[in-house]
Order: sequence, then C-alpha cells, then structure tokens
Amino acid sequence: MDERLLAGALAPEEHEPDATLRPRALAEFVGQAKLKETLGVFLQAARRRQEPLDHVLLFGPPGLGKTTLAHIIAREMGAQVRVTAGPVLEKAGDLAAILTNLGPGDVLFIDEIHRVPPAVEEILYPALEDGKLDLVIGTGPAARTVELRLQPFTLVGATTRAGLLSQPLTGRFGITHRLDYYDTEALRKIVLRSAEILGCPIDEDGAVEIARRSRGTPRIANRLLRRVRDFVEVAGESRISAAGARGSLDKLEVDHFGLDELDRRILGTIVERFGGGPVGLSALAHSLGEDKGTLEDLYEPFLLQSGFLTRTPKGRVATALAYRHLGLPPRAPGAGPLFDGTV
Ligand SMILES: Nc1ncnc2c1ncn2[C@@H]1O[C@H](COP(=O)(O)OP(=O)(O)OP(=O)(O)O)[C@@H](O)[C@H]1O
Ligand SMILES: [Mg+2]
Repeated sequence: MDERLLAGALAPEEHEPDATLRPRALAEFVGQAKLKETLGVFLQAARRRQEPLDHVLLFGPPGLGKTTLAHIIAREMGAQVRVTAGPVLEKAGDLAAILTNLGPGDVLFIDEIHRVPPAVEEILYPALEDGKLDLVIGTGPAARTVELRLQPFTLVGATTRAGLLSQPLTGRFGITHRLDYYDTEALRKIVLRSAEILGCPIDEDGAVEIARRSRGTPRIANRLLRRVRDFVEVAGESRISAAGARGSLDKLEVDHFGLDELDRRILGTIVERFGGGPVGLSALAHSLGEDKGTLEDLYEPFLLQSGFLTRTPKGRVATALAYRHLGLPPRAPGAGPLFDGTV
C-alpha cells in the first residue's frame, strides 16, 4: 500500500489539489467549533478597532488546518500574507529582511515555528512585543544597536510540536489554539464539500465511509476521496456509493478505524512483544525499526485519542479496544508477553 496514504503530513505532489480544496473564509472552515467561534470574535473586534489581530499560535497534528487558518486569518483581515517556515530562517538577517518588508497589517505566517533557530527567535521577541527590531551594526567595540520600527503586523505561528517551543516565545502569542482531530460528522461535511469542488458525485453514506476512515484528519479525508474516486471511475461507476467507498478503502488496506499497517504493527508489537505494555517510546520505536519522532508525532496522537493506547508514567499501554481490534482476547496488564520468544 502507498505508505503515505494515511500520513497526516503533506506529500509534495499534493500542493496543487490541496490548494483548490482549501477553505478560504472562516465560514467555509468545517468543524473546530470552539476555535471558529472565538477566532471569529477576535477577528471582528480587531477589524472594528482597525488594528491587526493579536499574534496567533496554532498547534496540533499535521493536516488539521493550521496553514488553512493562517490564510483565512489574512483574508478575513483583508491583509497580505507572507509565508515562511522555521527551517528556512537560518540567520537573524533572514527574518529581519522579512519583518522590515511587511506592510501595515500584514500577516506573517511561520510554519514549523518550533524549528526557528534560537538566534533568530531572539529578534522575534522585540518584534512581537514592541513592534521593533534591534539591529546590531558592526562588530567588536564599534558595534552599536539600531532600533527599527516595524509596521504593525500579525504573526501566525504553526507547529505540530508545541512542547518544543520556548516559554518566552509561547508567552508572546495573545491567541493560542490547539486543533483537535475532527469527528466523523465534520469529516463527512469536508468530504461532501471536496467532492463537490472536484465535480465527483458521492452518496451521503459514501462520504461517511471515507470520513470514518480518515484518522480525524481533513487532509487524509481529501486524499482518500481522490483515491476512492480513482477506483470508482475505473470501475465505470458514475458516483461514489457506500459500497464503492468501502470496497476501495479495503483495497487500500485502510481499516474501519482508519488504522493503517504501521498502526496495527504498533499495537501488535506492544501486545505481542511487550505484554500489552507499559513500554517506553524508544523501546517501541527500536523494536518496530521506526523513527521515534514519527511515532510520537504522526501515529501515537491518533491512537491515544481514539482509545487504542493510553499513556502512563511507565510508558504506553494497549487498551482492551486494541486487543479487540487485533482480534485478541483482552489480557490483564502485566500478564507478560503473549509470545515469549521461544518456538
Ligand atoms: N476545517 C477544514 N475544513 C475543510 N477542509 C479543511 C479543513 N482543515 C483542513 N482542510 C483541508 O485539509 C488540507 C490540509 O490542511 P492544512 O494544510 O491547513 O493542514 P496543516 O495543519 O497546516 O498541516 P501541516 O502540519 O502538515 O502543515 C487543506 O488543504 C484543506 O483542503
Ligand atoms: Mg501546514
């Protein structure tokens, strides 16, 4: 199966199609009701005062709409958006150049803000707090600091790893929002909306089937919709029915919960090799031959949220739901490995 099918992260070739499916106004943004409501109020208040919106920090797993929201914020404020990313800002001068080029009210979007190097982060502080830039000119005893006033602007920072952000940086955002995984109902609406934009007829039940298996992630819902559409079109069917969606998703090896092969391997390993847990993330990653960061960022959050795993101080534990999903009888915690390695 295509390894990236269920990864929340963006595949390079997806930039174009995703752009067409991306909601442009807050009203088109599906789900995340609380975020939408509060952000809507802050946007309205800022517009009324004719001031830029306070700085916004968005965090949450990949594919839940952080970049989309950054663009929506700019549009709702009638502002230009300037896009950059943590890893691109190598030197303080890189960021200084961007900041000094911002027009009044512009939105600066820094994706992967947790990867902004510390030296660059330093110059963000006065920019965020006082709207100024402290530039050091020259070196040695002749060095002096010049203060540059910036146009009022809004920084929108996005990160999948809020825990990696420094305290001083987090503290400078006036608005902080966590994006949560979407429920099936919200994803159903997203699938229906995307199908309409793609000109692809779909039954309500077909949309539910795709929604259910999308790991709570709009990007995955859109991706599965495109793949299902391929199957259905090649099969000569004129629309995506529930049966058509189910058949295609089965062929793609996406199960009822949206778990893919690695999810099942994670659960299987915890159960079979570690007696159901608790097992530390490093030991688990090593045993799976997978990168620890990948497990932590992409896989574990969804398994935790959907109740397949719990996290204890001693490590990850497989739940009764995980055993059931693997077709195994539930076991008492600490009952020892299912297979002890002897043959
Ligand atoms: N609330 C939503 N309603 C409708 N579609 C959405 C919503 N959120 C996201 N999408 C769709 O999912 C795609 C992925 O969203 P986006 O690129 O904003 O995610 P992201 O959080 O920035 O991910 P990453 O962490 O990988 O950068 C968008 O192109 C859009 O089509
Ligand atoms: Mg993004």
